[in-house]
Amino acid sequence: MAIKLLEDLPGVGPATAEKLREAGFNTIEALAVASPGELVACADVGESTAAKIIAGAREAADIGGFETGDQVLERRKRVGKVTTGSKSLNELLGGGMETQSILELYGEFGCGKTQIAHQMAVNVQLPIEMGGMNGSAIIIDTENTFRPERIEQMVKGLPPAPDGQDWDPKEFLGHIHVARAFNSNHQILLAEEGALELAEKLRETEKPVRLLVVDSVTAHFRAEYVGRGTLANRQQKLNKHLHDLMRFSDLNNALILITNQVMAKPDTFFGDPTKPVGGHVLGHTATFRVYLRKSKGEKRIARLVDSPNLPDGEAVFSVTTEGLRD
Ligand code: GTP
Ligand code: MG
Repeated sequence: MAIKLLEDLPGVGPATAEKLREAGFNTIEALAVASPGELVACADVGESTAAKIIAGAREAADIGGFETGDQVLERRKRVGKVTTGSKSLNELLGGGMETQSILELYGEFGCGKTQIAHQMAVNVQLPIEMGGMNGSAIIIDTENTFRPERIEQMVKGLPPAPDGQDWDPKEFLGHIHVARAFNSNHQILLAEEGALELAEKLRETEKPVRLLVVDSVTAHFRAEYVGRGTLANRQQKLNKHLHDLMRFSDLNNALILITNQVMAKPDTFFGDPTKPVGGHVLGHTATFRVYLRKSKGEKRIARLVDSPNLPDGEAVFSVTTEGLRD
């Protein structure tokens, strides 16, 4: 039996489940990484019951388990590549944006990070033969920059459908799930719970989640953690957030697209003005890092930075009203 509800766990009755939820343990995953002491304190259970609950949750959530090499191989076989709409950008990325990876877009304001995120939310829905994954998209929007009108324009700009039917922008919008994140804690919660739950719900449908966007991944952290003394705390939270995203990507065969600004003006706290916010924590977690610069008019330049298995290089593409193009 697949365990989905807290009540299904050994040692959890309705009253305990309610206390756990009140204390913020809303999912099996959250319980799996709890300590017995925490449960004793919040749910009025004894040490041994707490240990039993956690053990049950760990088994059900399969957290911290190892995968064998052949399981990893099986999972890696499902990696898909999603077209960006620009041939040169696809080539730079080895054929498109890969699922089961985190791709970070960084660059100054107006360089096209949010535009690319919109385009990927459209393209991930396309059939495989058109460079899509037949999937849904989740967008965690921290800057309130999601624009359904832009999605409509981009859908209208798509190449013709294989069956000759017109694309329906409403249908595309219906497969993009957007949540505003009001602060960094909210953002973390949306990734570790909301997005996972939604993805689980859509897993067996025709449009499973194949893209999770966090735009911007660092803005809230940057605004909230100001001053030298807060750096360690901020990096720790950001690190955990990124690992939640990584887990999401493995579990759902999804592409994680995160955006990040470069520092507009040098300040001692955030360091080098040409470097992305978040420093080494982001650098070590993202599988692909793409630095974007503005060029003339609609032209943009993308540079692949420190990729483990692709040559560094640059691609020129355009942001047009119809979407990304060469
Ligand atoms: P920040 O979030 O501020 O850091 O910037 P960003 O990198 O997310 O920039 P964004 O993706 O929002 O890019 C904005 C730019 O995209 C605009 O300055 C325009 O150049 C371009 N753009 C946005 N909408 C349209 C459109 O409808 N048509 C065309 N041709 N360009 C557009
Ligand atoms: Mg933006």
